[in-house]
Order: sequence, then C-alpha cells, then structure tokens
Amino acid sequence: METVNKKELIVSKIKNGTVIDHIPAGRALAVLRILKIAEGYRIALVMNVESKKMGKKDIVKIENKEVDEKEANLITLIAPTATINIIRDYEVVEKKKLKIPDVVKGLLKCTNLMCITNNDVEAMPEFKKISEKPLKMKCVYCDTVIDENEILKQILGSKS
Ligand code: CTP
Ligand code: ZN
Repeated sequence: METVNKKELIVSKIKNGTVIDHIPAGRALAVLRILKIAEGYRIALVMNVESKKMGKKDIVKIENKEVDEKEANLITLIAPTATINIIRDYEVVEKKKLKIPDVVKGLLKCTNLMCITNNDVEAMPEFKKISEKPLKMKCVYCDTVIDENEILKQILGSKS
C-alpha cells in the first residue's frame, strides 16, 4: 500500500499497466469510457483528491493494459492535463506528457448534417485543432467548428 499524501488516501501501487494521473476532477469515468475497458480488468479509480497543480484531480489505474497512442490522443480531448505513466514490474518505465493532437481523424463527428462526412461512408471525419483554451476543432471538409462541450458530449454520450 502507498501513502499518497498527509491527508491519507491509501491507494495500491500496480505491478504492470497504466496510471493516468492529473485527470480533471470528475472525468475519470469518461477516461474509462474512452478506453473501452473490457470486462475483467482490475481498475482503481481515485476521484476528487487534492492536487497541488490542479486543485482537485482524478486518477485511473488499469492493471495489465498499456494505453496506446490512439487511446492517449483521445484522452487529451477530455483531459488535456493528464499524464500517462506506463508501469512495468512496479516501476514507471514511461511518462507521457500528452498534447492535444493538431489533427484528429475518425474520432469525432461533424455536427453539420450536410457535411460530406455525414453523407459518404468513405469520407472519414477529420478535424484540425484551432484553439486549445477553449478547445475548438474545425472540420477540414466544411469548416464547422466544434467546441469542448460538443466534444465532451460526443465522447460521453448524452451526459455532459
Ligand atoms: N504508480 C502506481 N504504481 C506504480 C508506480 C506508480 O500506481 N507501481 C502511480 C503513482 O502513485 C503516481 C503515478 O503512478 O500516481 C506516477 O508515479 P510517479 O512518477 O512515481 O509519481 P510522481 O513523481 O508523483 O509523478 P508526477 O509528479 O509526474 O505525477
Ligand atoms: Zn464537416
């Protein structure tokens, strides 16, 4: 068992897998949703803990799964501050500080129903980042801009 800080939240270290730290408070479940975690993984969720940098944060620990690049990119859309730690034999072997991708292909839908991406199955949606704070992405086909709320809505389903 590991003592995280003086206010005493005890969380086990994991042997192998991924620790996603510095998730904005309340978005841990959305991160799990993005990762489409199959049944059977052992997962630890830590929500609303104090963070010096962020006020409050969430942490997700997934045993025996190393998050890949595509998944990491998706995570940044809802948790741009997240850090992804790859754990092997209890050691942090890789620490990825992630950046919102400049281009996102195939992950988000254009909100313009007339857009070719909503009418031609062969046209894969593609967005370019035009702003990070606030997050805004622009469809490369029709220039429709989607904001952070829309992105969250798409990733979270009906919840915001
Ligand atoms: N961690 C874990 N299991 C391990 C090793 C680390 O769950 N076997 C967790 C730590 O508790 C921490 C995160 O992975 O939440 C990153 O670990 P580490 O780099 O050791 O912590 P910090 O130095 O605090 O990382 P940072 O300041 O970069 O967030
Ligand atoms: Zn479009």
